[in-house]
Amino acid sequence: MKNPTPAQLRQLKAAAKTAAGRAYAPYSKFTVGAAILTSTDRIYSGCNVENASYGLTNCAERTAIFNAVAAGEKRLRLKCVVVYTPTDIPTAPCGACRQVINEFGPDARILSVCRGKGHIASSTRELLPGAFGPADLA
Ligand code: THU
Repeated sequence: MKNPTPAQLRQLKAAAKTAAGRAYAPYSKFTVGAAILTSTDRIYSGCNVENASYGLTNCAERTAIFNAVAAGEKRLRLKCVVVYTPTDIPTAPCGACRQVINEFGPDARILSVCRGKGHIASSTRELLPGAFGPADLA
């Protein structure tokens, strides 16, 4: 899978930051935005959506992916996932999101960025080694 271009990376970061501003996070106050780049070079974004029944919270990464599927992406394949938090240190995707990212992006790049300087550049394979995925059901 090709890497995102510098221009795409800028767009992904901007989209993730905008999405974080839309988060519904009244309980944790921890706002997260995510943007995904598809193999066909389309960008979708999402934010975390919390619930009074805390466990029902949906993370930003999963919202972005579900947003792409709901928009009609039939053969969704992820090139890149960017996560933005308005924090001093970057935030890596949670375990549940790693599993959902793997479903559509087993060879995706994953980049976490924040308000501060730091970032985490990683990949699905690195964050979820030995993953269970669609091929296991074939
Ligand atoms: N959260 C995300 O949206 N993505 C992550 O990868 C980590 C956690 C959200 C879930 C919850 O709304 C808040 O951050 C605190 O856990």
